[in-house]
Amino acid sequence: MKAALSSVMENQLQNNEFLRDVLEGLGGNRKTLPCKYLYDEVGSRLFEEICDSSDYYLTRNEADIFAIHLDKIAERIGPEALLIEPGAGNCEKVEALLAALDSPKGYYPIDISPEILLDAERRIKNGLPGMQVWSEVGDFTQAAVWDNLINIPSRKRVVFFPGSTIGNFEPLEAECLLELFASNLSPGDGLVIGTDLVKDSVTLERAYNDSDHITEKFNLNLLQRINVELGADFDLSLFAHRAFYHSLRQRVEMHLVCLKSHSVSIADTKIEFIEGETIHTENSHKYSIAGFNSLLTRSGFEPVCFWQDPAETYVIHYAQAI
Ligand SMILES: C[S@@+](CC[C@H](N)C(=O)[O-])C[C@H]1O[C@@H](n2cnc3c(N)ncnc32)[C@H](O)[C@@H]1O
Repeated sequence: MKAALSSVMENQLQNNEFLRDVLEGLGGNRKTLPCKYLYDEVGSRLFEEICDSSDYYLTRNEADIFAIHLDKIAERIGPEALLIEPGAGNCEKVEALLAALDSPKGYYPIDISPEILLDAERRIKNGLPGMQVWSEVGDFTQAAVWDNLINIPSRKRVVFFPGSTIGNFEPLEAECLLELFASNLSPGDGLVIGTDLVKDSVTLERAYNDSDHITEKFNLNLLQRINVELGADFDLSLFAHRAFYHSLRQRVEMHLVCLKSHSVSIADTKIEFIEGETIHTENSHKYSIAGFNSLLTRSGFEPVCFWQDPAETYVIHYAQAI
């Protein structure tokens, strides 16, 4: 009974935070929603489908880097490392790396989406018997989800951050996030991080407007989530997915465009939408190798080396905490 009560209270607390962020994001002149809310259970499954789609080259090309350079990456990480993965999702990428490491201490995945994380924990424990896994459900930008690391002594900690998730943060926010990572590491500890390279807008825009319309469903699911969890009355047919490359800001922006002026009720608040205005739902920043190295340097890391796919579209950087 006590456990049931506390999980109900936990859900209420999370919903309060979600409601606060939604009302704050939609209450301003330029409407925005934090991209972390794209990942409820449905959104996380849709993201898996995006990763499998032929237009979304990022996952495929990143997987090529891991397949080609796995031994070198494992060697660089070294023995007895504790691997920490913020935004682990289905933890698919880490399995081969954990298997290639020399006597890893264990794995500490963090994700905001509990269902996908707990499925993945089960899969890893089955696939790699004896591997210690400490899953943390929560927001990796908050210091609290890193606190339990203190109970896991290890020779070396390595933050594993693939999937170009760092690209979802504005450069200044990315710097703060990397500083948070560094604050949980000791000098010489590692960071393995994936970034998508700046490239032509046609390739980029195709990746975020896939021909099977999965990204469109992923984007619109955010409104459906607000309807289900916060009792809002968004009519999804009045919004359209739009993703485009902003070359000055070197990022793909994802928006939901309002197709007809109308109002939406969320809790006791009415939000007015005007035809043509958008809700900005996600950014995916692209980096040059030099640009990302300089971000690493500003955030408490020393860039050590990097690996690329054969087509040179994507980079895995290895850096060490200073
Ligand atoms: C772009 S996906 C990458 C997933 C996986 N790491 C990969 O490389 O395919 C982002 C992941 O981070 C999680 N996520 C996004 N923002 C988060 C946050 N602030 N805190 C915790 N998890 C977050 C999402 O649930 C999702 O699983």
